[in-house]
Amino acid sequence: MFKHKDLLGIRELSAQEINFLLDTAVPMKEIMKRPIKKVPTLRGKTVVNLFYENSTRTRGSFELAAKYLSADSVNMSGSSSSVSKGESLYDTGCTLQSLGADVIVLRHPMAGAPGLLSRRVKAAVINAGDGAHEHPTQALLDMFTVRERKGLIEGLRVAIVGDILHSRVARSNIWGFTKLGAEVRLCGPPTLMPPGMEKTGARVFYRMDEALAGVDVIVMLRIQRERQQQGLFPGLREYSRLYGLNRRRLELAGRDALVLHPGPMNRGVEITEELAGCPQAAIQEQVTNGVAVRMALLYLMTGGGAQSETDH
Ligand code: CP
Repeated sequence: MFKHKDLLGIRELSAQEINFLLDTAVPMKEIMKRPIKKVPTLRGKTVVNLFYENSTRTRGSFELAAKYLSADSVNMSGSSSSVSKGESLYDTGCTLQSLGADVIVLRHPMAGAPGLLSRRVKAAVINAGDGAHEHPTQALLDMFTVRERKGLIEGLRVAIVGDILHSRVARSNIWGFTKLGAEVRLCGPPTLMPPGMEKTGARVFYRMDEALAGVDVIVMLRIQRERQQQGLFPGLREYSRLYGLNRRRLELAGRDALVLHPGPMNRGVEITEELAGCPQAAIQEQVTNGVAVRMALLYLMTGGGAQSETDH
């Protein structure tokens, strides 16, 4: 059962709730394989995607998820809405609610913005990435992909490599994988590793070869190029040499280690061109699974799942 009005972060979910969400995504993925990918489950519901930052995967998959479930969906970006005329997030949320939104999917550069909005509107609010805080639906699709490929998550060793400091994907994945019983290892340059990460239960490494030894899953994070200008790492070539995933490093991991990347990728920087498309990489599967997981979430957050059987 999933009883939250909003989804603001993985931190607030129990292992049972995460597993229930992932279980609900399984039949959703089956719907996506049908010749006609459409069920009437959310007919009459309205989903608004409100994005104050650019997105390809998250916004596209929320829109498709809503359409496959027959909800009406509307996309709005900060730059093309009345936000550019100075309208506040609160007023924008109230306006969307008055327009009939049942769900507001919000991406915002400020950590905590979805939480702020959720306290002011009756509509369900889904965090689609807020600053460096959380990106819960990315973690859900990552966990779904691992569960699908590996069969289970408990007991796996998961390495998350890169810019941990600025990564909302890393934070949500730390909470998610830890709650489901995996060992989480974090690896990155000391300048991109926040202090006190051990308190989350994760182990911290600064040498990639040590972090990858024997792991089952490697989550490579996008290097945010703007961090170079801030002096947080010396250069892309140096970063790639120390923290890039290549064939030699992959061989240090478990024989069937799975490679994930949330995208967008900097090919040749955090991951070699060859590994981005190798059979051990599930990067395109992650994108597909993102639709299934978001279908499950929209379904559950609009009152679905109260019965033991879904009505699709
Ligand atoms: N992974 C992810 O959030 O990608 P987008 O920025 O394209 O949505």
